[in-house]
Amino acid sequence: MSSKILEGCHTMVYLTNGTVDKVYGLKSTPFTLRSALIEATDLVLYDRALRKIGVRTPERYGFQLRHNPKGPGLLLVETVQYIPDSVDDLFPDASPEMVLTVAKDMFSIISATLPTRGRTIIDTPISNFRRDREITYYVDLMPPRGRIRGIYRIERPEPRDKKIKAFLFQRYCGPSTPVLALNQWCRRRPQLRRQFEELIRKTLETRGNLEAAEFFEQRPAKNLSPVTINRLTPYDCDHIRDIGCELAYRGNLTVEGLRDIFSLAHIVPGGILPAPEEITRAKQLLLAYC
Ligand SMILES: Nc1ncnc2c1ncn2[C@@H]1O[C@H](COP(=O)(O)OP(=O)(O)O)[C@@H](O)[C@H]1O
Ligand SMILES: [Mg+2]
Repeated sequence: MSSKILEGCHTMVYLTNGTVDKVYGLKSTPFTLRSALIEATDLVLYDRALRKIGVRTPERYGFQLRHNPKGPGLLLVETVQYIPDSVDDLFPDASPEMVLTVAKDMFSIISATLPTRGRTIIDTPISNFRRDREITYYVDLMPPRGRIRGIYRIERPEPRDKKIKAFLFQRYCGPSTPVLALNQWCRRRPQLRRQFEELIRKTLETRGNLEAAEFFEQRPAKNLSPVTINRLTPYDCDHIRDIGCELAYRGNLTVEGLRDIFSLAHIVPGGILPAPEEITRAKQLLLAYC
């Protein structure tokens, strides 16, 4: 008995007799036999690297190959432990204490990857974290991200443009990565911003990640002025969102206004940046409310 429970941008997720089948190749490019075997190997290596730095991931029970029902190529199916509690569902309505506990867990996972300087990378959306009996897991291992078999992987398919790849790389594992997490949390709970910032600052300091801690204290949202906003480019989408969250926290920007900022400053997975007009529009909104 199998039922589809969820899907992300790479993966279809089915609950089958209490375990989860994660189907890869239906939502993104299907595999050849050779690429599926490489992908399964990379998933195992990536999982091992995550566990080595203390990140909890679901147990894996095995892999299968299936024919692609939609055309040529193969699907890779990974069967893993079901992690029942969605952080996405919990975040909007849980008590501030609960939200902060879970945010602290998520940030402890995210910050564990920072000292690896890109050897092991995770993707920060809240939907990639789930909980089981109050333990937080990182569940999204597709694509494996980081240096695997000597090759850096960041997306599937990998961006061809070197500049985009370098940008995505620093976005996922540079000193600005904590801002990605903060944005995810603040868009759902804007009023907890100062507590979120404090827990990020403290964790970075405790872990001795001074480069990221310093970046965090000096980022554009902390030096808010028209000059700061005017300087932002399409590569600064995460700062545009961060400033939107700051203005929402201050009560200058409504929930709808914040939603507009997030959609104007959206980077499509794979690294497609917003058009310059969208950034101009986002900056106009920020300037109007700052
Ligand atoms: N082991 C699991 N148990 C329960 N839900 C899961 C599990 N793995 C993923 N999910 C959920 O399925 C959805 C898509 O999974 P994810 O691995 O993030 O796919 P994608 O790579 O496409 O983003 C997410 O909402 C995630 O929380
Ligand atoms: Mg995901």
